Amino acid sequence: MKNTVTTLQQMKKDGEKISMLTCYDYSTACLMEESGINAILIGDSLGMTMMGYSDTLPVTVDDIIHHCASVSRGLKDTFLVADMPFMSYQTSVYDAVKNAGRLIKEGHAQAVKLEGGASVCEQIRAIVNADIPVVAHIGLTPQSINAFGGFKVQGKNVERAIQILKDAKAVEEAGAFMVTLECVPEELATLISQELTIPTIGIGAGNGCDGQVLVYQDMLGMFTGFKPKFVKHFANIGEEMKRAFKEYDSEVKSKAFPSAEHNFKIDSEVMEEVRKAAATKEFTVTLEDERVKA
Ligand code: KIV
Repeated sequence: MKNTVTTLQQMKKDGEKISMLTCYDYSTACLMEESGINAILIGDSLGMTMMGYSDTLPVTVDDIIHHCASVSRGLKDTFLVADMPFMSYQTSVYDAVKNAGRLIKEGHAQAVKLEGGASVCEQIRAIVNADIPVVAHIGLTPQSINAFGGFKVQGKNVERAIQILKDAKAVEEAGAFMVTLECVPEELATLISQELTIPTIGIGAGNGCDGQVLVYQDMLGMFTGFKPKFVKHFANIGEEMKRAFKEYDSEVKSKAFPSAEHNFKIDSEVMEEVRKAAATKEFTVTLEDERVKA
């Protein structure tokens, strides 16, 4: 079944959970497509996972387009959402619509996601008016890391919890068709999910959300240094990759790889002629000869 804005919203109505993962390349997109994941996010987390930055702030619209277009070529039924990076929508409503349009036209996304609540509703309204579906993102918004002073759980006191609830209502009213809740206490996220008619997608927000999203390298255990509390390793691909890289290194050095099964054959008569030709003078081309010809 093709996933669309309508089917994702219907899933909430039917009490069916929505699965979403980040993805940044064609090969992984093909695997996710075959796995029945409902939606893929080209997250600006690619700044960290793919580009090695320490946060998402340096990511550009062109970076997202590059990865989004690659992923789009591997998808058929999975819904594709592209993140709007830092300063691609905060600067003006005009910039927001223009950059959202680029993510759709050049990145082949079906929707865009942007961070912020009441403060970005003007942008959400304008993008939706351009017929581009919007996913909002509230709670911990990593593009505000400098304002927040780090990656911390949001909404733990009354004032901040009510602010997040108000932001959720505001983005729904502005026309967002779905909202991401990041690092919000479970009970608050559950209440927000009950209060909204649009689906909530949680990351570090508990099981009361209408769906879940994870960064795929996190859930595959590709980073071993640090595991946030909300991440579950569904596999230990990082260890398996390291094992394979080490084995390759050792087989190349010991000449165990490549072996007969990986090599191509040539007729012995053909090879005999090639050897004879190679032994004649005209085949011993030297750099000097090449220079003379030029
Ligand atoms: O960029 C990203 O990967 C995200 C998810 C954490 C929701 O925004």
